[in-house]
Amino acid sequence: MADSLTITDNRTGKSYEVPINDGTIKAIDLRKIKVSDDDFGLMTYDPAFLNTAACRSAITFIDGDKGILEYRGYPIEQLAEKSTYIETAYLLLYGDLPTKPQLEQWNHDITYHTILNENLKSLLDAFRYNAHPMARLISTVAALGTFYPEAKDISDNEMRQKQIQRIIAKVITIAAFNYRHRIGMPYAYPDNDLSYPGNFLNMMFRMTETKYKPNPALEHALDVLFILHADHEQNCSTAAMRSVGSSEVDPYSAVAAAAAALYGPLHGGANEAVIHMLNEIGSVAHVPDFIKRVKAGEGVKLMGFGHRVYKNYDPRAKIIKKVADEVFDVTGRNPLLDIALELERIALSDDYFVKRKLYPNVDFYSGLIYQAMAIPMEMFTVLFAIPRVSGWLAQWNEMLSDPDLKISRPRQIFTGSERRDYVDLKKRG
Ligand code: SDX
Repeated sequence: MADSLTITDNRTGKSYEVPINDGTIKAIDLRKIKVSDDDFGLMTYDPAFLNTAACRSAITFIDGDKGILEYRGYPIEQLAEKSTYIETAYLLLYGDLPTKPQLEQWNHDITYHTILNENLKSLLDAFRYNAHPMARLISTVAALGTFYPEAKDISDNEMRQKQIQRIIAKVITIAAFNYRHRIGMPYAYPDNDLSYPGNFLNMMFRMTETKYKPNPALEHALDVLFILHADHEQNCSTAAMRSVGSSEVDPYSAVAAAAAALYGPLHGGANEAVIHMLNEIGSVAHVPDFIKRVKAGEGVKLMGFGHRVYKNYDPRAKIIKKVADEVFDVTGRNPLLDIALELERIALSDDYFVKRKLYPNVDFYSGLIYQAMAIPMEMFTVLFAIPRVSGWLAQWNEMLSDPDLKISRPRQIFTGSERRDYVDLKKRG
């Protein structure tokens, strides 16, 4: 039996053979199915790409039914336990775990690119104090590209790798500097003696001490959270990165576009929305009423629940629950945890959620950890964006060497007016 589809067009009685490769058919192969010679031919209609593979990728594998997540074949559980975020970023970008010399060089390159051009501070200072940190991040990353006009030459691989290092390195400085500006504190500069997560905590929280010493448990917890958030195949923000990147724009502008997609409450903004939801619920006693409102379809969602791909427990949520215990041992238990656990307990046994295969996703518990680490709610999506930058860049880097690469330009089903002539203003009703 050939790997092909035989399609009979009942409008004409004609049959067509369409080859099947990798479990897909090429949408363009449907264009030969016509009712007449001047017919454009068939297209597929797939808003939100529910059932459309937009690319080939070797970076991240997800099995939504089995709750499996692997970066370059390595299970997320093993990476969370044994790797570091910087090593994982290398893995996502270059396909293999680095050797010792490679890791030392990579770590050095990232560490020594964390400084920002001082001129960028005038942009940060221009924001109102209460400008949302994600809007600041989006703007600042786009502006960062203006310091490196050579980044436009995306065909130069060496140039690309240099920008990739700069963006991964500088995103923690941009995030922390924007936070310091928001709270009216002087900027705390990078400390090259610290790890990537440790340096971020240093730039966020260093006060008057000359040497900031990150709490090892919190530094490790943040490193694991960065690993868990680093990539997730073709999610909304990665699709934005690929679509915008397909125009051959510089990587700073493409990352800014991806970060804008992540900002939405249905995507990376969910971790902040979960805390707002838990605060609104207020106590364990109020959980049943809230669940009732969700089920009554009052436009209230159980934020941090559900996923387009995972129809089983998000493996990252399981790991994050363990990290939460590690953090709460240091910071004290977050009182909102009890409400979250009660929400999960009820939802996992309630038919409304079970039938829709709604389970906690990566965002359900992560905000509780950030809050316990004294990171303000508005920064939660920024904490998601920081590690996801390496996933976006890995996907962008892979796309640029894809032989199928063309500028992204979907078609449409036109539902507008038939052709009509212009009506002079005085003749309009
Ligand atoms: C991330 O794609 C990725 O990989 C994303 C991500 C990544 O790492 O990049 O994993 C990160 O974005 C995680 C998701 C964070 N978002 C939230 O937690 C927001 C709340 N969740 C939802 O809005 C929703 O579940 C989505 C957006 C995550 C997925 O939406 P889908 O796949 O479009 O599913 P759907 O909206 O069609 O829902 C199917 C049904 C609907 O009910 P019916 O209309 O069939 O009766 O499930 C219901 C929905 O109303 N539903 C929910 C719900 N999520 C879906 N009902 C209540 N609460 C929810 N959270």
